[in-house]
Amino acid sequence: MSVNFQINGKAVSANAEPDTPLLWVIRDELGMTGTKFGCGLALCGACTVHLNGQAVRSCQTPLSSVAGQKVSTIESLSTNNTHPLQVAWIKHDVPQCGYCQSGQLMSAAALLSTNKNPSDSEIDAAMSGNVCRCGTYPRIRAAIKDAAVNMRNA
Ligand code: FES
Ligand code: FES
Repeated sequence: MSVNFQINGKAVSANAEPDTPLLWVIRDELGMTGTKFGCGLALCGACTVHLNGQAVRSCQTPLSSVAGQKVSTIESLSTNNTHPLQVAWIKHDVPQCGYCQSGQLMSAAALLSTNKNPSDSEIDAAMSGNVCRCGTYPRIRAAIKDAAVNMRNA
C-alpha cells in the first residue's frame, strides 16, 4: 500500500502495510535515522516526532494514520544546530549518551510552539513522557528555559 504524506515539508510516498509503525518508515524507508527506537510501546519517548505540530510517539503511530498529514522529525529543527533549542542544548551540555535526546528535543519544540514561557511544572508535564536513563532532566529543563528566553527575544 502506498501512503502519501509530508515529512519536513517534503511530499513523500511510503510503500508499506497500513499498520506499519511510522518509526520504521521514517528510519528504514526514508533513511532518516535521527528518530530513535527505544521501547516500541509508547513508553519512553525516544521516537517522538510531530504530527501536524503535536508530539506523538512514532513507534505507535500507524502509517495509515498519517495519510495527507504533516510529519516533522528531528532533522527539521535545523541542519546546522542553529535552532534555539539546539543552541541551548549545546550551551547546557545536555546530552550524556544522547540516545533519548532527539525525542527530548521534539517534545521540547512542541511545548515551545504553544507555550512561550513555560513554568517548571509545565516543562515537567510536557516532558514527562520522555525518559532519560542518564538523568539529564535538570539540564533539559534549564535548556528549555534558556531557549524560551531566546525565542521570545528573537
Ligand atoms: S520507542 Fe516509541 S515511545 Fe519508546
Ligand atoms: S542522554 Fe542517555 S538516555 Fe538520555
